[in-house]
Order: sequence, then structure tokens, then C-alpha cells
Amino acid sequence: MTKSYEMNSKDLTSGSGAPYFEHQDSQTVGPRGPVLLQDFILQENLAHFVRERIPERVVHAKGSGAYGTFTVTHDISEYTKAKLFSEVGNSCRMFARFSTVGGEKGSADTARDPRGFALKFYTEDGNWDLVGNNTPVFFIKDAKKFPDFIHTQKRVPKTNLKSATMMWDFWSLNPESLHQVMILMSDRGTPHGYRHMHGFGSHTFSMINAANERVWVKFHFRTKQGIRNFRQEEAVKIAGENPDFAQEDLCKAIERGDFPKWTLFIQVMTEEQAAAFRWNPFDVTKVWFKDDFPLIEVGEMELNEIPSNFFAHVEQAAFSPSNLINGISFSPDKMLQGRLFSYADAQRYRVGVNANQLEVNRCPFGVRNYQRDGAMANSGSYGDAPNYHPNSYDGVRPDPQYKSFEYEIDSNDVRHFNRNENDDDHYTQPGLLYTKAMNQEDRDRLVHNIIDSMQGIGGEKRDEIINRQLCHFFRANIELGMRIAGGLHISIDANTLSHGKS
Ligand code: HEM
Repeated sequence: MTKSYEMNSKDLTSGSGAPYFEHQDSQTVGPRGPVLLQDFILQENLAHFVRERIPERVVHAKGSGAYGTFTVTHDISEYTKAKLFSEVGNSCRMFARFSTVGGEKGSADTARDPRGFALKFYTEDGNWDLVGNNTPVFFIKDAKKFPDFIHTQKRVPKTNLKSATMMWDFWSLNPESLHQVMILMSDRGTPHGYRHMHGFGSHTFSMINAANERVWVKFHFRTKQGIRNFRQEEAVKIAGENPDFAQEDLCKAIERGDFPKWTLFIQVMTEEQAAAFRWNPFDVTKVWFKDDFPLIEVGEMELNEIPSNFFAHVEQAAFSPSNLINGISFSPDKMLQGRLFSYADAQRYRVGVNANQLEVNRCPFGVRNYQRDGAMANSGSYGDAPNYHPNSYDGVRPDPQYKSFEYEIDSNDVRHFNRNENDDDHYTQPGLLYTKAMNQEDRDRLVHNIIDSMQGIGGEKRDEIINRQLCHFFRANIELGMRIAGGLHISIDANTLSHGKS
């Protein structure tokens, strides 16, 4: 019989739990060595050390995370049958990760970049992830362009340097990026940490209610801390002084009990409204105006716990737009459809095929399926349960209430090209952003930041890239184009422009 005993918690042990003493000194022959191969503690420590890193996220590598609570404050059960939203007062535990996009894991938190706003809600229907940004739109509207786009935000293959030329070349050749580029070049591109920014699901999603009716939905998280941004010069300065500014700001706020909060709103669009919408409602480069689709309040999210271990919880967190639940689903948005594939795929590579078994990713309400084994499987929860379905033993019966939403598609032609009405209108919304949403100070800074960035364009294609991008600014707003052209010392004949305005 084995005698049970308590280990002295101060003992130092090997990975297999055996207490040992010699941590600082390798075992040698005589006082000067050589070192003996039999010192397996030395081997174990060196071997574990060189395996400490997993691949960083291919995008959004630098980030911060926190646990918190989401509470429903308003009834939206007319739109969704998700259990979380069935009653006012319901709440669930959640995890949030904020990030920059283009930089590596050690890059500066104040870089001009969109900020990732990824949320995981641990609900009774399963884990629901909303993997958004701090901007309501995106640079492109087709997943096929994503790898090329991201390459332009990373490093030049030869020099390993970031390149304004590469970025503006891509943006100027893909004018659907203009809306997001203008938000990025405004002060919203350099938020004051993560607490002072809004979050958006960005894409159009769908909600399905108990009567099996579907509406289209956009998600907005509005910061209760108020919007606060850095100016370009401040952001650059802090990048040098404290590259981990946002991480520190989030940790310190939570440690002092100043829990950051956001209010969740949705915008709702019916099928009829979608059919009559001026733009493709599934185009992530467009917003839905709040006057037409008012914000409907839903609930509050509060972040109140910094995880005990950054690597275990934040680095290994696996968010995916495909983590959807009964009553909340996707839309035909082409970007979102690509993302439904890409995230779980990335995580099988980055974290491993059993990433969902890790604490931060695990559904606390249980998982029942027949996926088994694989690297690092923790099969304790399956034990000796059958590993196939159907079977005569475990009583698992898929419930028809979870049948996917069935719908007709109004076309039978297969195509690659966009032919939605107004698909080429990349300019109306950026123009309104400039004239209506921004005040004079915002416009001045936007122009300043764009000029600053475009001055970095170089090489033999410099003039071609600048001219092509200037045309996009002019088409959004003539004053905007004139001011940027002036700042870049390019003379424009204003008469020609007013005739040529589209
Ligand atoms: C088709 C276009 C896109 C593709 C293929 C894509 C792909 C990826 C991949 C592979 C990752 C790393 C996942 C991981 O290793 O865990 C990632 C991270 C992320 N993406 Fe995207 N992405 C796309 C567009 C977007 C858009 C439009 C948004 C926001 C509206 C977004 C927000 C994020 C966020 C917030 C993260 C970080 C998640 C975290 O904190 O772990 N992405 N993306």
C-alpha cells in the first residue's frame, strides 16, 4: 500500500516531481570540470528553456488580456434565442485580449495601427467569440486579399524593414481601403492604451430568435472611460520611453480597482432593409449610419482580473469568429467567411490541436464530442467514454433545436467578381467621415499624419504611388486632396479637379 504524504511546498523538484538540491551548480569532475552528461537536471532545464516559445500570432502578436464579466441590462430576446440574452440581469464570465496588428510580440503599444478587440464570452450555449477591432470598418472586403495586405504591413523581404512605400502602394491600388486608412491616420490610430477606445464586431453578423426569424446585426462596444488618443508625436515618444504602455495601463487600472467598462450596443437591419440598402450590407468597408440604424443598448462588460500567468492565458488564448452560438451567427460577408476558416487553422498550428482544452479556451459548461487524442491531449474529461457516434452507450442525441438556420440563396451563378450596386463607391463614406464626423482639429491632424506617413514613400514608383493615392483623397473630398497635395509639395490645378469630381 502506498502511504500518502504531503510534499514540503518549499522543495525544488524536477519536472517529474522529484525534489533535488543542486540548482545553481552543474555536476563536474573535480572542481573545474568537465561537466557530466549524467546531470539530467541541467539537461532538463536547458531543454525546456529552448522550447519556451510558441510561434507568435501571425498578426496581432503584441497584446494584453484580462478576465471580466458581461451583464445583460436590456432585453434583446426578440432578436436572438441565445441563452445569455434571454433575461435582463443574466451575466457571464468573459476574457478580452487587445492588441496591435502589424508589430511583433515585442513591438511598441503606441504604434499607429488598428487595435484588436477580441472577446470570449463563456456562455451556457458554448463559448462565443467576437474578434473585432477598435474600428467599425476594415481595409479590404475579400479574405483572398488578406495575406497580401498583411505582407505590406510587415517587413520588406530584403531589408527586413517596414516600408511606407509598400503600404501606400497597396492602399492606392485597393481603394476600398480608403475609409479604414482615414480612420487609421486620424488620432484613433494611436489610442491612449486600450481602455479609452471603442470596440466593434465590424462585420455584419446575424441573430436568430426563438421563432426562427433572422436579422442582420452589427456589434458596438462603447468605452465608458471616454475616448482618449495620443497625437502622433506623443505616440512616437512613448514608443521609445515605454513600449509596453498599454499593458501597464491596463494592469495598473485593474490592480487599483478602477475596472474598465464598455457598453454593448447592437444595430439591427431587417432582410427588407438589407435589400434596399445603398451599399452591400455585408461589405466590411462600410458602416451603417446610426440615424438609419440606431444603437440599441444591450449590456455592460467590465474587466476586473489580470490573469495569473500571461503565457498560459493571454499568449495561448485562441479566439475565432467561428466560435458562434445558438442564436448568433455569421453573414455572407466575404471577409468574415474567410475568417471562419483561418483562426482555428492558425491555432492548430500556433497552439496545437487541443487548444480548446486549455483553461482560457475551455468551455466551462462542458464539451461532448468524439474528437480524441492528438498532441498534448488532456483526455481526463473523456475517460473511457466511447470515441464514436452513434453508439449504444453514452446516450448523446444531437438536439434538433440546434439545427442550423436554413435559408434560400437568391442566385445560382458562381462568380469571382463583385457586381453589387455601388461596389465601386469607395468614396462617399470617407468623404462624410471627413466633413461630418470630424471637427476642424481632427481634420488638421488627419492631414498632418497622412503627409507625415506619405513622405516616407520612396523608390522609382514614388510619384506613381503618390498620384494614385491622391486621386482617392480627392474623390473623397477635394479640400482633403488639396491639403495633402500641398503638404507633399505637389501642385494641382483646382479647376481641372472641380470638373473631374465624381
Ligand atoms: C479575411 C481576413 C482575415 C484573416 C484571414 C485574419 C486572420 C487572422 C489570424 C490567422 C489571426 C491569428 C490567430 C491566432 O493565431 O490566434 C488573427 C488575429 C486577429 N484578427 Fe484577424 N484576420 C482577418 C481579418 C480581421 C478583421 C476584419 C478583424 C477585425 C474586425 C480581425 C481581428 C483580429 C484580432 C482582434 C486578432 C487577434 C485575436 C487575439 O487577440 O488573439 N481580423 N487574424
